[in-house]
Amino acid sequence: MSNIQNDELSAALGRLAIANKKLLFQNQEKEKRAAELVLANKELAFQNNEKEKRAAELVIINEELHDALMNTVRVAMVLSEMRDPYTAGHERRVAEIAVAICIDLGFDKNRQEGMRVAGYLHDVGKIKVPAEILSKPGKLTENEYNLIKEHAQSGYEVLNRVSFPWPIAEVALQHHERMDGSGYPQQLKGDSILIEARIMAVADTVEAMSSHRPYRAGLGIEKALAEIEQGRGTAYDMNVVDVCLKLFREKGFEIPD
Ligand SMILES: [Fe+2]
Repeated sequence: MSNIQNDELSAALGRLAIANKKLLFQNQEKEKRAAELVLANKELAFQNNEKEKRAAELVIINEELHDALMNTVRVAMVLSEMRDPYTAGHERRVAEIAVAICIDLGFDKNRQEGMRVAGYLHDVGKIKVPAEILSKPGKLTENEYNLIKEHAQSGYEVLNRVSFPWPIAEVALQHHERMDGSGYPQQLKGDSILIEARIMAVADTVEAMSSHRPYRAGLGIEKALAEIEQGRGTAYDMNVVDVCLKLFREKGFEIPD
């Protein structure tokens, strides 16, 4: 081998050695980076687990709060029913009819729940009406009837202090309004009455007419349905009446005991 070839060979070997070192260094960097990534990944997995745990805890807290709210609502309902034992169960039955109607009208789960609570509490203002008037077997005087009518406003005043996620106080206020403005207390008309209150008006009438009262025996479901049919579009919302009639006459719905 000539000297020149020798020099070239050692130069090439030198370059190879340098390239090798570079590769080695790059490999080490890559390994370091990979180890860092593994660590970061573990950290992320841990954080995700923590988030999932927290989310599960929040679901439980939410359920507990919801149960507490519903229990409080039931307490208020029982108190209002105790005031007027002749109509015991009225609020619960009205709520069931109203919920069935609103399901057919396409309300989502949350609004269905609101409808149930509104049903439970719509007559809570009766607490301010003297018990002897509520249970009077004979015909009411005009004065007595006026006192009974005040339950809508009284209910609103009590319920308005609670911040419900639904229009509970407004439904209590408006559930005796009628589509043609013949209701009370504000003589609201048509769409200015909340849909929830229009549903409650129909459910309330059907339940009240079909069950017993201190001054008369229950008139039966057919009489009650005939009443809302007669008031369809004048006193009661047409759509709501149609849905309610269909529920009872075609879908076999019955007022719960
Ligand atoms: Fe009422």
